[in-house]
Amino acid sequence: MAAEGGQEHLIDSPDLGEMVVAAPVLQARVAELGAAITADYAGRAPLLIGVLKGAAMFMADLSRTIALPLEIDFMAVSSYGHATRTSGVVRIVKDLDIDLTGRDVIIVEDIVDSGLTLSYLRRTLQARGAASLEVCALLVREGLQKTDEELRYVGFRIPPKFVVGYGLDFAEKYRNLPYVCVFEGDG
Ligand code: IMP
Ligand code: MG
Repeated sequence: MAAEGGQEHLIDSPDLGEMVVAAPVLQARVAELGAAITADYAGRAPLLIGVLKGAAMFMADLSRTIALPLEIDFMAVSSYGHATRTSGVVRIVKDLDIDLTGRDVIIVEDIVDSGLTLSYLRRTLQARGAASLEVCALLVREGLQKTDEELRYVGFRIPPKFVVGYGLDFAEKYRNLPYVCVFEGDG
């Protein structure tokens, strides 16, 4: 299955459309974000909190570009289920293991769409006594944010199309694509 730019998709599926962020571009930007975090948090040991499952790949790559004695933890919240539209309902499915008191927390998110997930996480984690709380989002969908969350680190702003790959799924599939592309199947 040929994608834009003549590239082959890792998985042969008619549902996979045009390339949104190619693998080398993605990796280069992740390294830039890591360098920025390394500089901003010099002398500190930030706690990176990944939002499962979408942020798993991003967390793995990003954390390895940050030259600091950081710690990582993961949370799982309910999101889209099997649909391509947000329900607006956020619920903690897996909570953190590490105490946030006095910590410099960076929430690592795959994509910010409505911003509902993030505003819920911000409120919840702030209430647990973190010293600071910032957000690092790989992708931000342009123009659709319902709340104006402040995003300290953003990888890419992408057009309003449903995308998969690099952790992002449709019905649990396509997370293993090493790039981000448009999903053209039935949502
Ligand atoms: P929000 O609460 O509307 O900002 O939704 C954010 C969450 O929805 C993300 O963390 C993703 O898990 C999921 N999501 C939003 N857009 C997409 C997409 O284009 N592809 C896959 N998952 C998405
Ligand atoms: Mg997510």
